[in-house]
Amino acid sequence: MKFGAAFALLSSFVSTALAVSLIVPGAVWTDTSGTKIQAHGGHVIKVGTTFYWLGYSNAAGIRPNIYTSTDLMNWTHFGIASTAVSAMYRPKFVSSGGKWYIWGQINREIVTLVAPGSTPLSTAYTLTGSPQLLPPDARSFSDIGVFVDDNGLNYFLSSADSNNIQINNINAGTPITIGTRVADIGGSLEAPGLFKSSGGIYYLIMSQKTGWRADPDKVYWATALAGPWQGGTDIVPEAVNTYNSQNSAELVIKGTSMTSYIFLGDAWDSTGSDASNYEWLPIAVSDSAHTLTLQNHAMWTVNPTTGVVTSTGFANTTFAAADAIVGGSAIVKKRAVHNINSSSNVTFTNVVGRGDKQWVSFQYTVSNVTAGEAHVSVNGGAPVNLSQLNSRAGHYSTVPVALSLKQGSNTLTFGATAADGQDFEAHLEGIQVFDDY
Ligand SMILES: *[C@@H]1O[C@H](CO)[C@@H](O)[C@H](O)[C@H]1NC(C)=O
Ligand SMILES: *[C@@H]1O[C@H](CO)[C@@H](O)[C@H](O)[C@H]1NC(C)=O
Ligand SMILES: *[C@@H]1O[C@H](CO)[C@@H](O)[C@H](O)[C@H]1NC(C)=O
Ligand SMILES: *[C@@H]1O[C@H](CO)[C@@H](O)[C@H](O)[C@H]1NC(C)=O
Ligand SMILES: *[C@@H]1O[C@H](CO)[C@@H](O)[C@H](O)[C@H]1NC(C)=O
Ligand SMILES: *[C@@H]1O[C@H](CO)[C@@H](O)[C@H](O)[C@H]1NC(C)=O
Repeated sequence: MKFGAAFALLSSFVSTALAVSLIVPGAVWTDTSGTKIQAHGGHVIKVGTTFYWLGYSNAAGIRPNIYTSTDLMNWTHFGIASTAVSAMYRPKFVSSGGKWYIWGQINREIVTLVAPGSTPLSTAYTLTGSPQLLPPDARSFSDIGVFVDDNGLNYFLSSADSNNIQINNINAGTPITIGTRVADIGGSLEAPGLFKSSGGIYYLIMSQKTGWRADPDKVYWATALAGPWQGGTDIVPEAVNTYNSQNSAELVIKGTSMTSYIFLGDAWDSTGSDASNYEWLPIAVSDSAHTLTLQNHAMWTVNPTTGVVTSTGFANTTFAAADAIVGGSAIVKKRAVHNINSSSNVTFTNVVGRGDKQWVSFQYTVSNVTAGEAHVSVNGGAPVNLSQLNSRAGHYSTVPVALSLKQGSNTLTFGATAADGQDFEAHLEGIQVFDDY
């Protein structure tokens, strides 16, 4: 008996390790301490066997924030890179001459931070050099990106305020500076990210200029950085608005079995706050058609060694809404429950939990995304609003939410509440309860 109790205590400690084993686009993503990851407008680089995710945190004064991982799923918070700056948007790492720099945009100019040692991991980056505008004609700009070519040369990408996407050389001095212009690509576009395919084609991904609202991101291609740049195709069908996200950067995984290309998008909330999430998806590359297509997966993994992406086969149990307990006025039609509103709900019983966080995917739609909230209550607890948790809500029929379920049997109640004076209802097909988090 005593042994049993000691073992239960130990296993509950082990289960709070908060290991993430899936990438879940649009969901709230937490670090290894269980805190939401705040690395917006960022990028991911790999040094040795470690990935570094750099982005900005609003809560930390819009300062660069660093996370590390060896598997792209479990991210450990390292810290804020510097307190020497604030209001620095879209920070990016640049490695040059044995030093590590962070470039970010402050007041529509580039500002340079340098790490004290020879690693990108530092919380003591200091300001260096002067704020810079874009050569050759001193354009101011907003969003920035960086690209490292196969020959190790660094390039700077920007959305110039004169409606030009520019590519500039990065001069390898101490400190680095923005060099001559390589290409000037017209267009009212922003949030540039660039990668080179294994077939040698350069692809540039940019969003349109619609503020925090998502739009269909565009794809341009060239066989040389200087251009000519061609294309302007959509990365996804227009209607889905890049799955409610905006490009931030691209990551190429050159694995032992295959090369995978990953779109790193921001799933902004309506004000770009820390409630914003991330939309990471694999990209299908067609070098013959010169197109890119985002592969929409509710959850997926990539093996950082082999490069292989997996998007199905994760252990889960499906519960059809029609088999659940329907409370109130909601109507069951075929396998789904319709007209879920303030007067009704759907309760799933015997949902077996592991005593830890698990992904639960809700297959639902709402009649009007701004007129109310769908919510879920676990074991009669306070209802959690789904669209506040997850930028996919209302935009997708599948919304993965991390819920803490107790070990054994749980009860989940799905409901919908109209905002004051609004008409609002939800339609629920069912839920999938995943073994993993
Ligand atoms: C995430 O980290 C945990 C704990 O270190 C580990 O058990 C798990 O396998 C990791 N996930 C993946 C996908 O490697
Ligand atoms: C959920 O489980 C089913 C049945 O085992 C499986 O076919 C499906 O791929 C799983 N879903 C995901 C997203 O892995
Ligand atoms: C579900 O809806 C019914 C009918 O409106 C209500 O009596 C019940 O309290 C609701 N249950 C929960 C958990 O919200
Ligand atoms: C909820 O839906 C039912 C059935 O459509 C309807 O009769 C009822 O008036 C609705 N209740 C609210 C509060 O909107
Ligand atoms: C959706 O709800 C908003 C209020 O949040 C309202 O202004 C708008 O008219 C509604 N749209 C439709 C199509 O009913
Ligand atoms: C959830 O949404 C409802 C309906 O819009 C709202 O009344 C309620 O305050 C929200 N709850 C939280 C915790 O934000």
